[in-house]
Amino acid sequence: MRQELAKIIHSGDHFVWEVGSGHGHFLTAFAKGNPDDTCIGIDITSDRIVRADRKRERARLENLRFVRADADDFLAVMPETARFTSIFILFPDPWPKRRHHKNRVVKAEFLTAAAAKAVKGAPLYFRTDHEPYFRAVCDLVATHADWAEETVDSWPFEEPTVFQKRAERHFSLVATRR
Ligand SMILES: C[S@@+](CC[C@H](N)C(=O)[O-])C[C@H]1O[C@@H](n2cnc3c(N)ncnc32)[C@H](O)[C@@H]1O
Repeated sequence: MRQELAKIIHSGDHFVWEVGSGHGHFLTAFAKGNPDDTCIGIDITSDRIVRADRKRERARLENLRFVRADADDFLAVMPETARFTSIFILFPDPWPKRRHHKNRVVKAEFLTAAAAKAVKGAPLYFRTDHEPYFRAVCDLVATHADWAEETVDSWPFEEPTVFQKRAERHFSLVATRR
């Protein structure tokens, strides 16, 4: 993956990162609405990347890429000096059972690794319909040295994802890179 990323992300690049981009609805709309931002969506599921790529091609967006990758692996191999300007994590798999919590994308180690690659002030947008996961991420952010929770009335960009459309309600958090 390091070689694949080196072709699309260069040293010093700044980009918007979506983790678990699914079928790509959110980031395709975001990239269209923000043509000056480079946007990279990752997902571990190949067929979701294929579907997201079809959307990107239909929309003819030069500022958008989808990559099949695990979040931790991506952080480990992205070019050293590339940086996130914002991060979106929308309806990540909740892994409700305690013994499966280790599979959640957002853990303390993830927040530390993501912070190391985020510009100062970069927002991390997190949204889920699973209240226990939401509370757990609020607690992680509250005790994490690199992130501060922000109180915001609304997000700067909204495009309901597949999972958002199915959810009866959801919970949103914005954390800012200190
Ligand atoms: C519940 S779906 C939500 C998809 C989309 N964000 C939405 O709201 O419709 C979670 C997505 O995260 C992806 N995913 C799960 N673990 C991941 C990981 N470690 N790294 C990257 N993507 C992951 C899954 O393949 C899946 O597409």
